Amino acid sequence: MAARRRGTLKVLGLTALLPYLAQVVLAHGSLHKYSTTIPLPLRPLALDVACPLPVDDVAEAWPLQRPSPPWTHPPECEHAMDRTTKYCAYINSRHGSHGWSIVTSPETAADSAALLSKPLNTSRLGENWRDAPYKIVDMPGKGKGVVATRAIKQHEEILLDYATVLVDIMFTTRVPAVLGYRLLHAAVDRLSDPASILDLGRSNGLAKDEIENVLRTNAFNTPVGGVPHIALYPTLSVRGCLFSCFVSVLGINHACKPNAYTRFITESLQVSVGAARDIEAGEEITNSYIPLGQPSADRKQKLQRWGFTCRCSLCAASPAETAASDTRRREIERLRDHAVRAFQGGQPYQALRLTRQVLGLLPAEGLLHTHGGEQYENMARVFFVLRDMRNAEKYANLSLGVLAEQGYIQGGVGGEHLERMWKRFEEEEGGRY
Ligand SMILES: *[C@@H]1O[C@H](CO)[C@@H](O)[C@H](O)[C@H]1NC(C)=O
Ligand SMILES: *[C@@H]1O[C@H](CO)[C@@H](O)[C@H](O)[C@H]1NC(C)=O
Ligand SMILES: [Zn+2]
Repeated sequence: MAARRRGTLKVLGLTALLPYLAQVVLAHGSLHKYSTTIPLPLRPLALDVACPLPVDDVAEAWPLQRPSPPWTHPPECEHAMDRTTKYCAYINSRHGSHGWSIVTSPETAADSAALLSKPLNTSRLGENWRDAPYKIVDMPGKGKGVVATRAIKQHEEILLDYATVLVDIMFTTRVPAVLGYRLLHAAVDRLSDPASILDLGRSNGLAKDEIENVLRTNAFNTPVGGVPHIALYPTLSVRGCLFSCFVSVLGINHACKPNAYTRFITESLQVSVGAARDIEAGEEITNSYIPLGQPSADRKQKLQRWGFTCRCSLCAASPAETAASDTRRREIERLRDHAVRAFQGGQPYQALRLTRQVLGLLPAEGLLHTHGGEQYENMARVFFVLRDMRNAEKYANLSLGVLAEQGYIQGGVGGEHLERMWKRFEEEEGGRY
């Protein structure tokens, strides 16, 4: 059910960057969850394939309760079909600029109360951001697009948005459809501008319910208190034109080799769009809606879920260039898998050799800044088990440097980050060699 993390968890001992960072996040409370293949937590979920709302009408409404802070309305609840779990719609219509609501279990709501009641700084949100470095313009043949109004430096923040509607992933399978739709509507109708949310799904007729439609095309995987939720980020959302337009509401167009990426800010459930490289004034800002690094046929197939044919520079390249890029991408994938097997099979030197080859191929595909961190950590891990601490530290620093550049480690990389990485490696690989 959760979003697939192809390639990430498979890498070297099933424990690449994410578990280590989860620990960093817990220890610091201020770091963001890291994703090497950006936008990992923000990848659209394939809800149309994975999560039908079951049809049933046996549950009964939970008695209404009084609202308590941070909520501005009494929660409305429904039992799951197993009768032991319940899910409620919690609403805070004063949060941020549109309000927010979450459909989740009372346990998650309670566990996350501190997070969910923190006021949001709205000065840099969409329409409130007076010095935003972009403007929306008409693009010939593309509808609208977002263009930089000044030079933007690599890793600079371009846009900030927050999760307006959050829904526990399990809710979609556990609550009878009729009641599920009722709770979704309770969650959305009390926001300050429900129409702006409903608009996101208007012309997409896939689902029976209009909110389900919105979630099918715009849901992103977002953990709340460690529990997977689907979230709607209105500014980043895709307008629901199934067969024609593929622009976000703001109008950030898709590109397979984009100049921007999204990062997830765990502690405020916000997403930030950062510059993947330096962007010049007047240049269009682009973002990828699918995982980066895939060969053309896979990209085409994935983008068709939204009825979209990509005409970005990578997809519009000559057949020879496309073939060369596809070959490199498949080779990267093959070498990464091979490196994992070599490491797990007790061949660390082979794993090092293969990982070096991966690192050598990434720049040509523009993937070093997104996939490099993971490979650097893998190098550090192998050198660590070989007790070559000089090289382990060199690669650990490179890996942590990527995290810092992307805003996931604030206040600079220090010895404590290295210590934590060694501790993690020791726990995971201690008995290996
Ligand atoms: C909100 O964020 C802006 C920009 O980061 C900052 O200048 C401002 O001081 C913040 N306001 C509050 C109330 O924290
Ligand atoms: C790694 O980073 C730490 C902390 O920033 C620094 O003290 C150390 O010299 C670096 N080591 C190498 C090998 O680059
Ligand atoms: Zn493309």
